[in-house]
Amino acid sequence: MSVSLSLKNICRRFIKDNEEFLAVNNVNLDVQPGEFLTFLGPSGCGKTTTLRMIAGFETPSSGQILVDGVDITNVPANERGLGFVFQNYALFPHMTIFDNVAYGLKIRGESKDTMATKVREALALVGLTKAEQRYPSQLSGGEQQRVALARVLVLRPKLLLMDEPLSNLDAKLRLHMRTEIRRIQQKLGITCLYVTHDQKEALTMSDRIMVMHGGKIEQIGTPMQLYEDPATPFVADFIGQANLIEGRLEAVQADGYGIISVSGQKLRARMGKQNPPAVGENAYLVVRPENLHLQAGSESFTVQIVNRLFEGDRIDYHVQIPNSNQTKPYSMSVPFLPGTGLIDVGTELKATFTPDAGVIIKR
Ligand SMILES: Nc1ncnc2c1ncn2[C@@H]1O[C@H](COP(=O)(O)OP(=O)(O)OP(=O)(O)O)[C@@H](O)[C@H]1O
Ligand SMILES: [Mg+2]
Repeated sequence: MSVSLSLKNICRRFIKDNEEFLAVNNVNLDVQPGEFLTFLGPSGCGKTTTLRMIAGFETPSSGQILVDGVDITNVPANERGLGFVFQNYALFPHMTIFDNVAYGLKIRGESKDTMATKVREALALVGLTKAEQRYPSQLSGGEQQRVALARVLVLRPKLLLMDEPLSNLDAKLRLHMRTEIRRIQQKLGITCLYVTHDQKEALTMSDRIMVMHGGKIEQIGTPMQLYEDPATPFVADFIGQANLIEGRLEAVQADGYGIISVSGQKLRARMGKQNPPAVGENAYLVVRPENLHLQAGSESFTVQIVNRLFEGDRIDYHVQIPNSNQTKPYSMSVPFLPGTGLIDVGTELKATFTPDAGVIIKR
Protein backbone atom coordinates (compact mmCIF):
# COMPACT_ATOMS: atom_id res chain seq x y z
CA MET A 1 0.00 0.00 0.00
CA SER A 2 3.08 2.25 0.07
CA VAL A 3 3.31 4.72 -2.77
CA SER A 4 6.10 6.56 -4.54
CA LEU A 5 6.14 10.31 -5.09
CA SER A 6 7.90 12.34 -7.77
CA LEU A 7 8.33 16.08 -8.11
CA LYS A 8 9.33 17.21 -11.59
CA ASN A 9 10.72 20.72 -12.08
CA ILE A 10 8.41 22.17 -9.43
CA CYS A 11 8.41 25.97 -9.14
CA ARG A 12 6.28 28.31 -7.07
CA ARG A 13 6.32 32.06 -7.66
CA PHE A 14 5.05 34.55 -5.11
CA ILE A 15 4.83 38.31 -5.09
CA LYS A 16 6.54 39.79 -2.04
CA ASP A 17 7.11 43.52 -1.54
CA ASN A 18 5.83 44.09 -5.10
CA GLU A 19 8.47 41.81 -6.48
CA GLU A 20 8.08 38.38 -7.94
CA PHE A 21 10.35 35.71 -6.54
CA LEU A 22 10.67 31.94 -6.65
CA ALA A 23 9.87 30.50 -3.22
CA VAL A 24 10.44 27.04 -4.71
CA ASN A 25 12.92 26.92 -7.56
CA ASN A 26 12.99 23.88 -9.83
CA VAL A 27 12.74 21.08 -7.30
CA ASN A 28 13.17 17.52 -8.58
CA LEU A 29 12.70 14.65 -6.18
CA ASP A 30 11.88 10.92 -6.21
CA VAL A 31 10.62 9.43 -2.96
CA GLN A 32 10.54 5.62 -2.72
CA PRO A 33 7.56 3.67 -1.33
CA GLY A 34 7.82 3.43 2.46
CA GLU A 35 10.58 6.00 2.64
CA PHE A 36 10.86 8.66 5.37
CA LEU A 37 12.20 11.76 3.66
CA THR A 38 12.79 15.06 5.42
CA PHE A 39 12.90 18.60 4.02
CA LEU A 40 15.52 20.42 6.04
CA GLY A 41 16.59 24.05 5.76
CA PRO A 42 16.51 27.49 7.37
CA SER A 43 13.38 29.57 7.80
CA GLY A 44 11.91 30.77 4.50
CA CYS A 45 13.75 28.28 2.29
CA GLY A 46 10.52 26.86 0.82
CA LYS A 47 9.89 23.70 2.87
CA THR A 48 6.26 24.39 3.78
CA THR A 49 5.44 25.68 0.30
CA THR A 50 6.78 22.47 -1.25
CA LEU A 51 4.81 20.31 1.20
CA ARG A 52 1.64 22.34 0.63
CA MET A 53 1.93 21.81 -3.12
CA ILE A 54 2.18 18.05 -2.57
CA ALA A 55 -0.88 18.22 -0.31
CA GLY A 56 -2.80 20.27 -2.88
CA PHE A 57 -3.22 23.39 -0.71
CA GLU A 58 -1.00 25.36 -3.06
CA THR A 59 -0.70 25.15 -6.85
CA PRO A 60 2.72 24.94 -8.51
CA SER A 61 3.51 27.76 -10.96
CA SER A 62 5.06 25.07 -13.13
CA GLY A 63 6.07 21.44 -12.89
CA GLN A 64 4.39 18.16 -12.08
CA ILE A 65 3.59 16.06 -9.01
CA LEU A 66 3.20 12.31 -9.50
CA VAL A 67 2.01 9.66 -7.04
CA ASP A 68 2.84 6.14 -8.20
CA GLY A 69 3.46 7.61 -11.64
CA VAL A 70 0.02 9.25 -11.86
CA ASP A 71 -0.02 13.03 -12.39
CA ILE A 72 -1.98 14.60 -9.49
CA THR A 73 -0.87 18.21 -10.07
CA ASN A 74 -4.43 19.33 -10.76
CA VAL A 75 -6.29 16.94 -8.45
CA PRO A 76 -8.06 18.78 -5.57
CA ALA A 77 -6.56 18.28 -2.09
CA ASN A 78 -9.49 16.25 -0.75
CA GLU A 79 -9.23 13.75 -3.59
CA ARG A 80 -5.52 13.06 -3.18
CA GLY A 81 -5.90 10.64 -0.26
CA LEU A 82 -3.01 12.20 1.65
CA GLY A 83 -2.74 12.89 5.38
CA PHE A 84 -1.38 16.18 6.71
CA VAL A 85 -0.18 16.78 10.29
CA PHE A 86 0.41 20.42 11.15
CA GLN A 87 2.60 22.14 13.69
CA ASN A 88 -0.55 23.47 15.31
CA TYR A 89 -2.55 20.30 15.81
CA ALA A 90 -5.92 22.07 16.28
CA LEU A 91 -8.05 19.32 17.81
CA PHE A 92 -11.77 20.04 18.29
CA PRO A 93 -11.89 21.15 21.96
CA HIS A 94 -15.54 20.23 22.56
CA MET A 95 -15.17 16.65 21.26
CA THR A 96 -13.74 13.63 23.08
CA ILE A 97 -10.52 12.09 21.83
CA PHE A 98 -12.56 9.25 20.33
CA ASP A 99 -14.77 11.69 18.40
CA ASN A 100 -11.78 13.75 17.28
CA VAL A 101 -10.17 10.67 15.75
CA ALA A 102 -13.49 9.40 14.36
CA TYR A 103 -14.29 12.72 12.67
CA GLY A 104 -12.86 11.93 9.22
CA LEU A 105 -14.44 8.47 9.18
CA LYS A 106 -17.83 9.97 10.06
CA ILE A 107 -17.59 12.35 7.12
CA ARG A 108 -16.78 9.37 4.93
CA GLY A 109 -20.00 7.80 6.18
CA GLU A 110 -18.46 4.67 7.68
CA SER A 111 -20.62 2.43 9.91
CA LYS A 112 -20.47 2.80 13.69
CA ASP A 113 -18.84 -0.59 14.20
CA THR A 114 -16.07 -0.17 11.63
CA MET A 115 -15.51 3.31 12.94
CA ALA A 116 -15.07 2.11 16.54
CA THR A 117 -12.64 -0.62 15.49
CA LYS A 118 -10.56 1.75 13.36
CA VAL A 119 -10.46 4.52 15.99
CA ARG A 120 -9.33 2.06 18.69
CA GLU A 121 -6.67 0.66 16.37
CA ALA A 122 -5.36 4.16 15.64
CA LEU A 123 -5.35 5.14 19.32
CA ALA A 124 -3.52 1.92 20.20
CA LEU A 125 -0.94 2.71 17.55
CA VAL A 126 -0.11 6.04 19.20
CA GLY A 127 -0.33 4.53 22.70
CA LEU A 128 -3.48 6.36 23.86
CA THR A 129 -6.02 3.56 24.26
CA LYS A 130 -7.13 4.73 27.68
CA ALA A 131 -7.69 8.35 26.72
CA GLU A 132 -10.61 7.94 24.34
CA GLN A 133 -13.27 9.50 26.58
CA ARG A 134 -11.14 12.45 27.64
CA TYR A 135 -11.13 15.91 26.08
CA PRO A 136 -8.11 17.60 24.41
CA SER A 137 -7.68 20.07 27.30
CA GLN A 138 -7.15 17.09 29.62
CA LEU A 139 -4.14 15.86 27.66
CA SER A 140 -0.52 17.02 27.57
CA GLY A 141 0.91 18.65 24.47
CA GLY A 142 2.62 15.44 23.41
CA GLU A 143 -0.56 13.42 23.88
CA GLN A 144 -2.52 15.96 21.85
CA GLN A 145 0.04 15.73 19.06
CA ARG A 146 -0.34 11.95 19.11
CA VAL A 147 -4.13 12.33 18.81
CA ALA A 148 -3.53 14.59 15.81
CA LEU A 149 -1.40 11.82 14.30
CA ALA A 150 -4.05 9.16 15.06
CA ARG A 151 -6.71 11.37 13.46
CA VAL A 152 -4.71 11.31 10.22
CA LEU A 153 -3.56 7.68 10.38
CA VAL A 154 -7.09 6.38 10.94
CA LEU A 155 -7.89 7.42 7.36
CA ARG A 156 -5.00 5.24 6.11
CA PRO A 157 -3.50 7.95 3.89
CA LYS A 158 -1.32 6.93 0.94
CA LEU A 159 1.23 9.49 1.97
CA LEU A 160 1.84 11.12 5.32
CA LEU A 161 2.89 14.78 5.26
CA MET A 162 4.09 16.45 8.44
CA ASP A 163 5.07 20.09 8.86
CA GLU A 164 7.17 20.70 12.00
CA PRO A 165 4.79 18.54 14.06
CA LEU A 166 7.00 18.65 17.15
CA SER A 167 7.93 22.31 17.35
CA ASN A 168 5.30 23.13 19.99
CA LEU A 169 6.53 20.43 22.36
CA ASP A 170 9.20 20.77 25.03
CA ALA A 171 12.67 19.38 24.33
CA LYS A 172 12.27 16.09 26.20
CA LEU A 173 8.92 15.27 24.66
CA ARG A 174 10.29 16.11 21.23
CA LEU A 175 13.01 13.49 21.65
CA HIS A 176 10.46 10.90 22.67
CA MET A 177 8.05 11.74 19.83
CA ARG A 178 10.85 11.44 17.23
CA THR A 179 11.17 7.75 18.03
CA GLU A 180 7.41 7.29 18.27
CA ILE A 181 6.68 8.80 14.86
CA ARG A 182 9.46 6.79 13.26
CA ARG A 183 8.21 3.57 14.91
CA ILE A 184 4.65 4.11 13.70
CA GLN A 185 5.79 5.07 10.19
CA GLN A 186 7.91 1.92 9.91
CA LYS A 187 5.19 -0.28 11.38
CA LEU A 188 2.69 0.94 8.79
CA GLY A 189 5.31 1.09 6.02
CA ILE A 190 3.80 4.42 5.01
CA THR A 191 5.67 6.87 2.76
CA CYS A 192 6.34 9.99 4.78
CA LEU A 193 7.49 13.53 4.04
CA TYR A 194 8.55 15.48 7.07
CA VAL A 195 9.49 19.14 7.43
CA THR A 196 11.84 20.48 10.06
CA HIS A 197 14.55 23.06 10.54
CA ASP A 198 16.05 21.02 13.36
CA GLN A 199 19.02 19.13 11.94
CA LYS A 200 19.21 16.64 14.82
CA GLU A 201 15.59 15.73 14.22
CA ALA A 202 16.28 15.25 10.53
CA LEU A 203 19.43 13.18 11.12
CA THR A 204 17.85 10.83 13.63
CA MET A 205 14.49 10.21 11.93
CA SER A 206 15.08 10.14 8.18
CA ASP A 207 16.00 7.59 5.55
CA ARG A 208 17.02 10.53 3.37
CA ILE A 209 17.14 14.29 3.78
CA MET A 210 16.60 16.99 1.17
CA VAL A 211 18.49 20.12 2.24
CA MET A 212 16.91 23.30 0.85
CA HIS A 213 18.27 26.83 0.69
CA GLY A 214 16.61 29.82 -0.99
CA GLY A 215 13.98 27.64 -2.70
CA LYS A 216 16.55 25.30 -4.25
CA ILE A 217 17.81 21.85 -3.41
CA GLU A 218 21.34 21.93 -2.02
CA GLN A 219 21.70 18.17 -1.64
CA ILE A 220 19.65 15.00 -1.23
CA GLY A 221 21.17 12.05 0.60
CA THR A 222 21.16 9.78 3.62
CA PRO A 223 22.02 11.47 6.93
CA MET A 224 25.48 9.92 6.83
CA GLN A 225 26.13 11.00 3.24
CA LEU A 226 25.25 14.60 4.07
CA TYR A 227 27.47 14.52 7.12
CA GLU A 228 30.45 12.82 5.51
CA ASP A 229 30.26 14.13 1.99
CA PRO A 230 28.58 17.54 1.90
CA ALA A 231 28.07 18.81 -1.64
CA THR A 232 28.23 22.50 -0.74
CA PRO A 233 29.65 24.78 1.97
CA PHE A 234 26.05 25.47 3.02
CA VAL A 235 25.35 21.78 3.72
CA ALA A 236 28.70 21.32 5.49
CA ASP A 237 27.87 24.20 7.81
CA PHE A 238 24.17 23.42 8.27
CA ILE A 239 24.52 19.70 9.11
CA GLY A 240 26.46 19.59 12.34
CA GLN A 241 29.19 22.11 12.98
CA ALA A 242 32.01 22.50 10.51
CA ASN A 243 35.15 24.53 9.98
CA LEU A 244 35.36 25.70 6.38
CA ILE A 245 39.08 26.23 6.01
CA GLU A 246 40.03 28.24 2.94
CA GLY A 247 42.69 26.88 0.65
CA ARG A 248 43.61 25.90 -2.89
CA LEU A 249 43.53 22.41 -4.37
CA GLU A 250 47.09 21.48 -5.39
CA ALA A 251 46.66 17.91 -6.60
CA VAL A 252 44.40 14.89 -6.62
CA GLN A 253 46.05 11.58 -5.87
CA ALA A 254 45.18 8.24 -7.44
CA ASP A 255 43.67 6.95 -4.18
CA GLY A 256 40.99 9.68 -4.14
CA TYR A 257 42.70 11.98 -1.66
CA GLY A 258 43.53 15.57 -2.45
CA ILE A 259 46.32 17.91 -1.41
CA ILE A 260 45.10 21.34 -0.36
CA SER A 261 47.36 24.23 0.55
CA VAL A 262 46.20 26.26 3.53
CA SER A 263 48.30 29.38 4.13
CA GLY A 264 51.29 27.64 2.59
CA GLN A 265 50.80 24.41 4.57
CA LYS A 266 50.03 21.33 2.44
CA LEU A 267 47.39 19.00 3.85
CA ARG A 268 45.95 15.69 2.66
CA ALA A 269 42.22 14.96 2.92
CA ARG A 270 39.39 13.04 1.19
CA MET A 271 38.13 14.58 -2.04
CA GLY A 272 34.38 15.36 -1.85
CA LYS A 273 32.48 13.08 -4.24
CA GLN A 274 29.44 15.29 -4.83
CA ASN A 275 31.00 18.52 -5.99
CA PRO A 276 34.82 18.29 -6.13
CA PRO A 277 36.91 21.34 -7.08
CA ALA A 278 39.39 21.16 -9.96
CA VAL A 279 43.14 21.27 -9.38
CA GLY A 280 44.25 24.90 -9.07
CA GLU A 281 40.82 26.08 -7.89
CA ASN A 282 39.92 27.68 -4.58
CA ALA A 283 38.50 25.10 -2.23
CA TYR A 284 37.38 24.49 1.32
CA LEU A 285 38.84 21.91 3.62
CA VAL A 286 35.89 20.85 5.80
CA VAL A 287 36.88 19.56 9.24
CA ARG A 288 34.49 19.21 12.15
CA PRO A 289 35.58 20.78 15.49
CA GLU A 290 35.63 17.36 17.21
CA ASN A 291 38.00 16.00 14.55
CA LEU A 292 40.72 18.57 15.20
CA HIS A 293 43.14 17.32 17.84
CA LEU A 294 46.09 18.61 19.81
CA GLN A 295 48.05 15.35 19.65
CA ALA A 296 50.56 14.66 16.91
CA GLY A 297 49.04 13.04 13.83
CA SER A 298 49.36 12.84 10.08
CA GLU A 299 47.97 16.21 8.91
CA SER A 300 48.62 19.30 10.95
CA PHE A 301 48.68 23.04 10.57
CA THR A 302 49.74 25.90 12.81
CA VAL A 303 47.06 27.80 14.71
CA GLN A 304 46.94 30.37 17.46
CA ILE A 305 44.38 30.18 20.26
CA VAL A 306 42.19 33.32 20.37
CA ASN A 307 39.53 32.16 22.82
CA ARG A 308 38.64 29.13 24.93
CA LEU A 309 35.33 27.94 26.30
CA PHE A 310 35.31 25.37 29.09
CA GLU A 311 32.21 23.18 28.58
CA GLY A 312 32.83 20.55 31.27
CA ASP A 313 33.51 17.40 29.31
CA ARG A 314 35.13 19.33 26.44
CA ILE A 315 37.00 22.53 25.77
CA ASP A 316 36.12 24.56 22.71
CA TYR A 317 39.24 26.38 21.52
CA HIS A 318 38.73 29.14 18.97
CA VAL A 319 41.77 29.32 16.75
CA GLN A 320 43.16 31.46 13.98
CA ILE A 321 45.76 30.56 11.38
CA PRO A 322 48.58 33.15 11.86
CA ASN A 323 49.04 35.63 8.99
CA SER A 324 45.89 34.52 7.16
CA ASN A 325 42.96 36.73 6.19
CA GLN A 326 40.52 34.43 7.92
CA THR A 327 37.31 36.28 8.86
CA LYS A 328 36.10 34.13 11.74
CA PRO A 329 37.99 31.76 14.03
CA TYR A 330 37.85 28.00 13.56
CA SER A 331 36.66 25.81 16.37
CA MET A 332 38.57 22.91 17.92
CA SER A 333 36.63 20.82 20.39
CA VAL A 334 38.93 18.69 22.53
CA PRO A 335 38.04 16.39 25.45
CA PHE A 336 38.82 17.79 28.88
CA LEU A 337 40.98 15.38 30.80
CA PRO A 338 40.69 15.97 34.57
CA GLY A 339 44.01 17.02 36.02
CA THR A 340 45.06 18.93 32.93
CA GLY A 341 44.76 22.69 32.55
CA LEU A 342 43.53 24.99 29.84
CA ILE A 343 45.92 26.26 27.20
CA ASP A 344 46.52 30.02 27.32
CA VAL A 345 45.09 32.39 24.76
CA GLY A 346 47.87 33.48 22.40
CA THR A 347 49.58 30.06 22.38
CA GLU A 348 50.61 28.78 18.96
CA LEU A 349 50.26 25.06 18.40
CA LYS A 350 49.52 22.41 15.79
CA ALA A 351 45.94 21.42 15.00
CA THR A 352 45.86 17.87 13.71
CA PHE A 353 43.39 15.67 11.85
CA THR A 354 43.45 12.37 9.99
CA PRO A 355 43.04 12.53 6.18
CA ASP A 356 39.66 10.75 6.44
CA ALA A 357 38.31 13.35 8.85
CA GLY A 358 38.76 16.15 6.30
CA VAL A 359 36.89 16.57 3.03
CA ILE A 360 37.76 18.96 0.22
CA ILE A 361 34.84 20.72 -1.51
CA LYS A 362 34.32 23.56 -3.99
CA ARG A 363 34.42 27.12 -2.66
N1 LIG B 1 1.23 33.10 0.14
C1 LIG B 1 2.43 33.66 0.06
N2 LIG B 1 2.61 34.87 -0.57
C2 LIG B 1 3.84 35.43 -0.67
N3 LIG B 1 4.95 34.88 -0.19
C3 LIG B 1 4.85 33.69 0.45
C4 LIG B 1 3.59 33.02 0.61
N4 LIG B 1 3.81 31.86 1.28
C5 LIG B 1 5.13 31.80 1.51
N5 LIG B 1 5.76 32.89 1.02
C6 LIG B 1 7.21 33.17 1.07
O1 LIG B 1 7.88 32.08 0.46
C7 LIG B 1 9.09 31.77 1.12
C8 LIG B 1 9.08 30.32 1.54
O2 LIG B 1 8.13 30.15 2.56
P1 LIG B 1 7.90 28.76 3.31
O3 LIG B 1 6.74 28.93 4.21
O4 LIG B 1 7.81 27.68 2.32
O5 LIG B 1 9.25 28.62 4.15
P2 LIG B 1 9.70 27.51 5.19
O6 LIG B 1 10.93 26.90 4.65
O7 LIG B 1 8.56 26.60 5.50
O8 LIG B 1 10.10 28.36 6.47
P3 LIG B 1 9.82 28.13 8.06
O9 LIG B 1 10.94 27.21 8.52
O10 LIG B 1 9.96 29.49 8.63
O11 LIG B 1 8.47 27.54 8.23
C9 LIG B 1 9.20 32.77 2.25
O12 LIG B 1 10.02 33.84 1.82
C10 LIG B 1 7.76 33.25 2.48
O13 LIG B 1 7.75 34.56 2.97
MG1 LIG C 1 7.39 26.25 7.22
